[in-house]
Amino acid sequence: MVKDKYSRSLRDLRISVTDRCNFRCTYCMPLDEYAWIERSEILTFEEIERLAAIFIRLGTEKIRITGGEPLLRKDLEKLIARLANLEGLADLSMTTNGSTLAQKAAALKAAGLQRINVSIDTLDPEKFKRLSKRGDLAQVLEGVFAAKTAGLHPIKINAVIERGVNEDGILDLVEFARVNGFALRFIEFMDVGNSNHWQTSRMVSKQEILDIIGSTYPIAESGTRAGSAPSLDFEFVDGRGDVGVIASVTEPFCSSCTRARLTADGKLVTCLFSESGHDLKALMRSGATDAELADRITSVWRNRTDRFSDERLEALQSAQGYEPDAHRKIEMIRLGG
Ligand SMILES: C[S@@+](CC[C@H](N)C(=O)[O-])C[C@H]1O[C@@H](n2cnc3c(N)ncnc32)[C@H](O)[C@@H]1O
Ligand code: SF4
Repeated sequence: MVKDKYSRSLRDLRISVTDRCNFRCTYCMPLDEYAWIERSEILTFEEIERLAAIFIRLGTEKIRITGGEPLLRKDLEKLIARLANLEGLADLSMTTNGSTLAQKAAALKAAGLQRINVSIDTLDPEKFKRLSKRGDLAQVLEGVFAAKTAGLHPIKINAVIERGVNEDGILDLVEFARVNGFALRFIEFMDVGNSNHWQTSRMVSKQEILDIIGSTYPIAESGTRAGSAPSLDFEFVDGRGDVGVIASVTEPFCSSCTRARLTADGKLVTCLFSESGHDLKALMRSGATDAELADRITSVWRNRTDRFSDERLEALQSAQGYEPDAHRKIEMIRLGG
């Protein structure tokens, strides 16, 4: 198995199938206008399948489909079916905003998708519209329940918490998840990309989130992270499910990060906070063999030294502090969240 400079293997791959999105979440892509990737530059399903198979041969066990909004990619279930058939893949999942999930959940499940994460930051329809600039909460909820009916399991709800925006809805989300059997994961607001104008003051920490939950629902830590999963998990003391927090800012997990990202235009990116990627599409379209592509991926991974979130925390705790705009990062919608 290929390992990087800190002995981290290449166990997970996030594949972005499009940079387009029908929402404009304030913490992710608040810009109305954006230079979208040209259609001809987007990897075809054949190209994605070929690269995925090579990653699996290099030790990748888990693939998550993401974007932008992955369900905007036409006939996505056909890609799911191709990936689900790849030998050696243990886990195939997707992260979606859920806006068209009601129409697609059954076909995705039939194609071989195992589980799904749906992003829901608030259960207040007005606030949901404001946060996503154009989302309809009722449609998203319909999608989540359609996924449950289709048999996708577990269904995880991702909620990014931003100070002064939605921390007052944390308990509603907890109750919703407990009642319906969904796994809830809160995410500390991160400085991905540059468009969201991240500031530490807008981030609600893991500890604050846990204090809010614990004020109403007693919880107990259920062990450390499973493998490379970034979520810290807690069980409800009454036995009704669990809740997790992804504390990338206050408790970074760089030392166990085994995740690579493939952008919709075929760039291999080795960190969520990278400034650039490595162009696998150009190599592939110039006629490279599978062995040559595998060599390139191996050499990129072997040279990987990323530990951005560790460095951010060190800077935040230093006298100079942390300057988010000093670093030009790839936007989340392009990178694949
Ligand atoms: C970029 S989205 C792509 C998939 C899909 N469009 C969705 O919203 O689920 C993937 C995940 O990244 C999260 N995300 C986006 N920007 C973030 C930020 N600044 N901090 C933390 N999480 C963020 C979203 O909440 C979502 O759960
Ligand atoms: S990619 Fe996901 S998180 Fe980003 S704007 Fe679209 S729906 Fe929101």
